[in-house]
Amino acid sequence: MTLPHESSTGLPQYPESYWLASSRIPSFSKLTQDISVDTAIVGGGISGIVTAYMLSKQGLKVALLEAGQILNGTTGHTTAKITAQHDLIYDEFISHFGEEKARLYYEANDDALRWIKQTIKEHQISCDFAEEDAYIYTASDDYVQRIENEVRAYGTLGIPGAYLERTPLPFETKAAVVMKNQARFNPIPFLTKLVEQFTAQGGQIYEHTTAAAVEEGDPATVTTLEGHKVTCRFVVSCSHFPFGGGGLYFARLHASRSYVLGVRTDKPFPGGMYLSAEEPKRSLRSVTIDGEPMILIGGESHKTGQGICTIKHYEALQLFGEETFGLKEICYRWSAQDLITLDKLPYIGPATADTPNILIATGYKKWGMTSSVAAALLNVKTITGEHSPYQELFTPSRFYVDPSLKTFIVENADVAKHLIAGKLDMSDKLHPDELNRDEGGVVRVNGRRAGAYRDEHGELYIVDTTCTHMGCEVEWNNGDRTWDCPCHGSRFSYKGEVIDGPAKKPLSKVEAL
Ligand code: FES
Repeated sequence: MTLPHESSTGLPQYPESYWLASSRIPSFSKLTQDISVDTAIVGGGISGIVTAYMLSKQGLKVALLEAGQILNGTTGHTTAKITAQHDLIYDEFISHFGEEKARLYYEANDDALRWIKQTIKEHQISCDFAEEDAYIYTASDDYVQRIENEVRAYGTLGIPGAYLERTPLPFETKAAVVMKNQARFNPIPFLTKLVEQFTAQGGQIYEHTTAAAVEEGDPATVTTLEGHKVTCRFVVSCSHFPFGGGGLYFARLHASRSYVLGVRTDKPFPGGMYLSAEEPKRSLRSVTIDGEPMILIGGESHKTGQGICTIKHYEALQLFGEETFGLKEICYRWSAQDLITLDKLPYIGPATADTPNILIATGYKKWGMTSSVAAALLNVKTITGEHSPYQELFTPSRFYVDPSLKTFIVENADVAKHLIAGKLDMSDKLHPDELNRDEGGVVRVNGRRAGAYRDEHGELYIVDTTCTHMGCEVEWNNGDRTWDCPCHGSRFSYKGEVIDGPAKKPLSKVEAL
């Protein structure tokens, strides 16, 4: 249940991303007619916008469709670290996929970092870009060996880095691995500039336009929820869950949420970007807000719809911030949704082997800033008929038996459990009348399970908690005041509107009799 006010904890009452709060993002009207283009891109986050920008720069006619508003999804809620240091992965990738693939993974992300840097320079974009070293540290003896293995993997792959016992952080660490010359920025001014360039190059953007179906073929046709058609040679799905082209992606991806605080502190931040090796994850970087240096503290990931009372995740970050730096003020809090593939490599390329012109870009784990640009670079090459060394590595139709198969079975057993369990549990449910203002949760309405939220003005919103994707029961997220599905991560506003797919249709409204 949401507490009426959380101000006693020092957390802002409502979530708000600093990136979105501090930038002006242009808005676009919805698609109201049938159109014909070279490429239709679905999804207005970093992957979609960079792909659109690159294609239009090459003279292609491109339309970008966004179900809500551009930049409002994960891209607007990131910590915006631009790095190829994606947790302790290189030693693991060498043992799962071999040295060559692990090296290609690094190079794809390093290319992406360079592309971002070069583009900022080319358009002279003011977006708080700064080069920083990236560290993964541990304060636990149990992780020292894994850090040592990772440093060895860096050596094998030729990644510039080093082993350290201490980091510049103001607490004891047992070991750390540093990757040199990575970066951070504010993604919104960067992407807003690309949007400006894209539209100046003749690109079309349609917001509040949900792509509902794709008809394969050459040309392919994307049909929107309102029935308008976009005829095109290529479709690129950059909307988290691929929306068409088959491939059973809802069973091959899982959604994860994580949390961020933007804080003013007593102790200064020492520079660098950090991630703990151990759970619970702690992510740190600096940021300048209104001319003042602040820190972004992130972490506390969990599968969507399967967290504890979600405000507790913010409180855990707050406690860490207080103990580490001393908190003066928590200025912002927000959360993000990321998708994770079975083998931890993104899915980039044709959705299935039989659909060469329906491309997808998804599953960046928590590392969307470089992975999305790597995806755009690769998909653009596929569209323009150029070769890329990364095609095979990221191809979505790959099937590496180990570890994918084991993960596939576990993920889907988990979904089956939620399909059944959520429907049976009717014990101790409140009546909606018992909800206070700004309080939500699962309730009993007309003898059935439903979801209700009473807003600050006392207005009550009751929805059917059956997810419109495949029928699991959504759970209340009190940190964000949303309904989150534990099966494939669809999220809905308290009014029932879709925030994140794979669901496309809103939750049904329920009338109390
Ligand atoms: Fe698949 Fe809800 S997201 S059932």
